[in-house]
Parts: sequence; structure tokens; C-alpha cells
Amino acid sequence: MPFINIEKILNQDIFKCTSKVAEEENTPAFIIGGYVRDLILNRECKDIDIVVQGSGIDFAKKVAQKLNIKKVNYFKNFGTAMFNFNELEIEFVGARKESYNRNSRKPIVENGTLEDDQKRRDFTINALAISLNKTNFGEFVDPFNGISDIENKILRTPLDPSQTYSDDPLRMMRAIRFASQLNFTIEENSLKAISENKNRIEIVSKERITDELNKIILSKKPSVGFKLLFDTGLLALIFPEMAALQGVEIIDGKGHKDNFYHTLQVLDNICLNTDNLWLRWAAILHDIAKPATKRFEPEHGWTFHGHEDKGAQMVPKIFQNLKLPLDNKMKYVQKLVHLHLRPIALTKEEITDSAIRRLLFEAGEDIDDLMILCEADITSKNPEKVKRYLQNFKLVRKKLKEVEDKDKLRNWQPPINGNEIMEMFKLKPGREVGILKVAVREAILDGIIKNDYNEAKKFVIAKAKELGINY
Ligand code: CTP
Repeated sequence: MPFINIEKILNQDIFKCTSKVAEEENTPAFIIGGYVRDLILNRECKDIDIVVQGSGIDFAKKVAQKLNIKKVNYFKNFGTAMFNFNELEIEFVGARKESYNRNSRKPIVENGTLEDDQKRRDFTINALAISLNKTNFGEFVDPFNGISDIENKILRTPLDPSQTYSDDPLRMMRAIRFASQLNFTIEENSLKAISENKNRIEIVSKERITDELNKIILSKKPSVGFKLLFDTGLLALIFPEMAALQGVEIIDGKGHKDNFYHTLQVLDNICLNTDNLWLRWAAILHDIAKPATKRFEPEHGWTFHGHEDKGAQMVPKIFQNLKLPLDNKMKYVQKLVHLHLRPIALTKEEITDSAIRRLLFEAGEDIDDLMILCEADITSKNPEKVKRYLQNFKLVRKKLKEVEDKDKLRNWQPPINGNEIMEMFKLKPGREVGILKVAVREAILDGIIKNDYNEAKKFVIAKAKELGINY
């Protein structure tokens, strides 16, 4: 175990005070769960759970009184109470025994001992407690060898794994999330039990599943979590579009790459360069329509024409199913999926200013994120190719900067808008206004005229004349 200055930690007012109340009330109290785990792992943790052998609510009231805390929140149904103290969130709960009903994650709860309470927890590493009682103050209570499991980086359930997962199937997601976050291995029987109990995930709300999924995505190397989700069969149940990326088809001896493992590599790559959850989601979804657009053309081999458009179309439904936000975050992901091939296309042709302008206009302020996505999309095993692709993107970035400095297209609006067109030509809203508006925009993006009010005005008058509209 790494050196932990436990004396210093337990010297904090919150623990000293809890200990005093435990003695006065003759009610044993222990720190338990994530806080103890994270202490050993040297991870920051702002939530402290305290379990007492008695009423958590009465106990919390007494501690709050001593600390002069006025605001305590009680949850009578759960027998818990919590308050904030020095930026920490402290929760008190009575030790309990739980039994479960098959159709619900909500347990039937009875009072119990510390050991009953530790047994009902998900993993041995989360079942560790530290005593706050006078006789053995500061001692670890570790009946399931949680400390050794932390040292060996193993996720193990205190009870038979099948029972632990079936009782509360969210724990299957938690196991995989912890494996990904902490780089731990799920013990063999536990992993088997997840596969066997995978269908029990249906009693867990989508919001909770997605909450865990997002934590996996925000971990350092999310492929760890996604591979486990795939191998246990959970991915096909919670996010079938992603599971469908897996597999290689071979026709006439020609195969295509496995888009699932490719996507995971892109995701791991992008995680080296961004903590933005939504940019990470764009990496997950960039090739999501490959299965739907896959064709074998004898002359060309495998093609996925239009997968960027179809992929962008799929994004809202996927977000909706996963209860992800449908606001501008979804639109951002959709935009990146839609545009993810564009910088590559630019490297294949002579880079014209107008192609660059068009991309800047369409990507707007997300252009830098788009470039991060494209660079992460390079997964070739051939170092020469990787070098060349990166070099090409460097050139695209340079060009983007030059054109942006010159034309300021990031948050650009054409110099003449629809209202002005209506006024100029005494037009009512309708098709003609639209045609003229688009013509101005396209002429500027194509470099036919400058991004300038007078040039735009001259151009729109000439264009209107062509259409038989008088100025
Ligand atoms: N717990 C459990 N089963 C669950 C959720 C939680 O047994 N489905 C127990 C674990 O002992 C856990 C504790 O409740 O340590 C607190 O849960 P929570 O605060 O959700 O998670 P942490 O383990 O603290 O981890 P994180 O904050 O990263 O979610």
C-alpha cells in the first residue's frame, strides 16, 4: 500500500467531530466506500460517506450541531442525511442489510451491522472502511481484502458476482467504468457473470447507463471500457449502432478494416488531445454509418459513399435513445460527423482558397475541433503514411489560418442579408430573395467577389437583372 498520512487526514475537523459523536452516543461510525478507495489510490474525492451502526439521520444532526452547520438535507425514505462542509459533501447513513426484488434496483432495506453493509456493496475496493471509533481509531476494516485488490488492480465483488450484478445491474456498467477509469482488471468470474446477466440491464434507466458510458468516454483510454462492453454483450444492448461497426467482410479476397476497432483507436487518439466529452462523442460517431452505406464494387473494392451524411442524419436518433442532450451539443457532434472527410478531401486536391473558405464557413468556430478529429482519424500502421498525412494536415491548417486571417470567415455572415435584398428590390419574402441571398454568399465563398459590402451590392444588382428583377 502506498504511504498515506492517515493521521493527518483523520485530523480534519469532520472526522474528529464524527468520532466524538460516535463515542458520546455509543454509536460506532466508519468512513466507507469511494472516499477510502480514492485515499489509497491517491485520487481526489470530495464525497465522504459515513456509515453508522444506528440512525444516520440522528447522527448527522449531532455532528452538524457540533460543527455549527445549519443546513442539513434529510432523505427519510433512504435513512440518509447530508451536508456540505469545507467544500466536501458528507453523507451519513445507517448500516444496512439489503435484499432485492427481481424487477427493480430498489432494495428492501433493514438495519444491519457494518459487515452486512460492506457485503451489500458492489466491489471489494468500494467496501473498505476506516474506523472512527476510540478503540481502533484509524484502522482499516477490510473483510474482503479490498486493499490487496487495489494493489493488484482487481475488481471483485464481495459476494457471488451473479448475485451482486443481478441485484443491481447498474453495477455491470460500474465495473466496466472502474476498469476503464482505474485501468483495473475485472476478475474472471465477475466478467463471466456480467456476460450472463447482461439482459438484466433492461431494468436500469437509460440516464444512469449513459452517465456511466460518459464516464468511460471521459477516462484516459476509453477503448478499455468499450472492448469490455462489446465482449460482454452489453454494447449491443445499450448502443447497438456502435456494436454494429464490428466485423470484417471479405469478398473476392478483399476485406475492409474493422470499423469498431478503428473507431476505438480514433477515440483513444483524440483523448490524448482533448477532454471535451462532445468532441470525444464525435470520434465515436464519425464512422457510425459505415455499416449502413457499405457496398462492394468489383472495380473499387469496399466503399462507404455518403457515410458522413448518413452518419450526421443518425446522430439525433442516437442521442435521443441514449438520453443525451438534443441541444447545440448534439448539433456540434452532428456537424463534425458531417464534415469529417472534408479536410482529407482538401489534401487530395490542389488546395484552392475557395475550398478553404467554404470549409471555414461551414465549420465556423468548430474548425479547430474538426482538425483535431481528422488528425485522430489517422490510424495507419505505416509510419511513412502517418507522417505524410500529418504533413498534409499541417498544410491544410496553415492554409486555413492564412485564409481566415484574410477573410475572417469563422463567424461570418454575408455583407448583404435577406432584409436588405427585400428593401432594395421591393420584394416580398419568397424564393427570389433566397436565390439572391445564396448567390451573394456563394460568389464570396468561391472568390468571385470580395467579402465587401459594395462589391456584394454591385453583384446582387447584376444577378437580379439576370433574373428580370428591377432595382
Ligand atoms: N455502491 C454500490 N452499488 C452501486 C452504487 C454504489 O454498492 N450501484 C456503493 C459503493 O460502495 C460505492 C458507494 O456506494 O463506493 C458510493 O457510491 P457512489 O458515490 O455512486 O460511487 P463511488 O464509488 O464513490 O465512485 P464515483 O464517485 O466515481 O461514482
